[in-house]
Amino acid sequence: MPLERRSWAEPFKIKVVEPVRLTTREQRERAIAEAGYNTFLLRSRDVYIDLLTDSGTSAMSDRQWAGMMLGDEAYAGSENFYSLEDAVHRYYGYRHLIPTHQGRGAENIISRVLIKPGDVVPGNMYFTTTRLHQEMAGGRFVDVIIDEAHDPASEHPFKGNVDLDKLEHVLKANPGRVPYVSVAATVNMAGGQPISLANLQAVRELATRYGVRVILDATRIAENSWFIQQREAGQQGRSVAAIVRDLCALTDGCTMSAKKDPLANIGGFLAVNDDEIAQQAQNLLVVFEGLHTYGGMAGRDMQAVAIGISESVDDHHIRARIGQVEYLGAKLRNWGVPIVLPVGGHGVFLDARAFLPHIPQSQYPAQALAAALYLDSGVRAMERGAVSAGRDAATGEEHMPRLELVRLTIPRRVYTQAHMDVTAESVYCLYEERDRIRGLRMTYEPKLLRFFQARFEWV
Ligand code: F0G
Repeated sequence: MPLERRSWAEPFKIKVVEPVRLTTREQRERAIAEAGYNTFLLRSRDVYIDLLTDSGTSAMSDRQWAGMMLGDEAYAGSENFYSLEDAVHRYYGYRHLIPTHQGRGAENIISRVLIKPGDVVPGNMYFTTTRLHQEMAGGRFVDVIIDEAHDPASEHPFKGNVDLDKLEHVLKANPGRVPYVSVAATVNMAGGQPISLANLQAVRELATRYGVRVILDATRIAENSWFIQQREAGQQGRSVAAIVRDLCALTDGCTMSAKKDPLANIGGFLAVNDDEIAQQAQNLLVVFEGLHTYGGMAGRDMQAVAIGISESVDDHHIRARIGQVEYLGAKLRNWGVPIVLPVGGHGVFLDARAFLPHIPQSQYPAQALAAALYLDSGVRAMERGAVSAGRDAATGEEHMPRLELVRLTIPRRVYTQAHMDVTAESVYCLYEERDRIRGLRMTYEPKLLRFFQARFEWV
């Protein structure tokens, strides 16, 4: 029998295991009620399969754990800073490394250095912490992603692309008021969707014509590069590492959460080419993060990040990583469950509007679906819809984004195919009984990044 396709398997074997706890329906009912129906407020001991996030949840390699033993915890000039600097030069190509405790630390610093009150920052869809730091520095974020990104059913291969007409309109309308274009690879809130190399090239050219910088959110750049290798004309056969370098070369700097692609449990950095910006950033760093040779990280953490970066761009690693996400996505799609297409890099996103058409967006269908999933099987997912979008900084009105999603985020190198099967079956069972799921009402709303700590009750 000829095979349609040969299977791939993970390029690792398991050396250490961490037990997880199975709970009863009664235990889960108590736990989610205590958590105010917000999966962020669950205790992890009450979670069976944790798909809340891919952030800081990776399994580190034996090389990374060995690297932790080489931690040089000197306050100044730690050896591990120089290892990390080497990795950033080699794999991303930027001249200056400014280490931070995680991605949002870097976002804070670059926003404060580059944005003045009244500035406008165009970008390919907002991310929660990125936009907030831009706003706190006095800027206003404007979404210039292509329209297809807002349509869960569109199978555009690069739904992270910038709409060049929208971008040019913003640049033209705000002369001298656009400090940089904020480009993410991949776009988290669109469903982990990639930007193409050609599109970033065009963004670069347009920005240069207007004398504007391009700052990359490189958090999931290896995943983005894999999609470019698979989908973009002329890129097949090139290594993920080479494509990562090309993407970075088109930009003036990047923010990085090392908790995602770089396979670390904590860490991040800002990297820039400009000497003056680097100097200002290093100066702010000592106020908010720590000395410029550790940012907010321990020496051992910097070593784990440096090694993780080299592992993250390995073609075999990234193929298995995204292959696992695609496996879960294909299962759900074959069963008719509405998901964001194409399946993204770091998770499968359920389309809660299509899943629960009887719940109005004002009753937070994605939040309700995430709570229902936990109740069914102990699988923890995350809302990425109206609750995450929060309120307009100027008017105070609730944002009601077209995308009302539940993210099943897959940690790197942590779960097996059997965990994906259990998850898919739980989602399918909920889909069969979707009429029984009710909406939620918010009973406590924090002012900033409300999704992390908000509380709800069933309508
Ligand atoms: N940029 C993107 C695209 C992200 O996804 C995140 C974090 C950050 C920046 C901020 O980095 O968490 O290290 O401060 N995303 C996590 C998530 C929280 O679950 O998607 P951080």
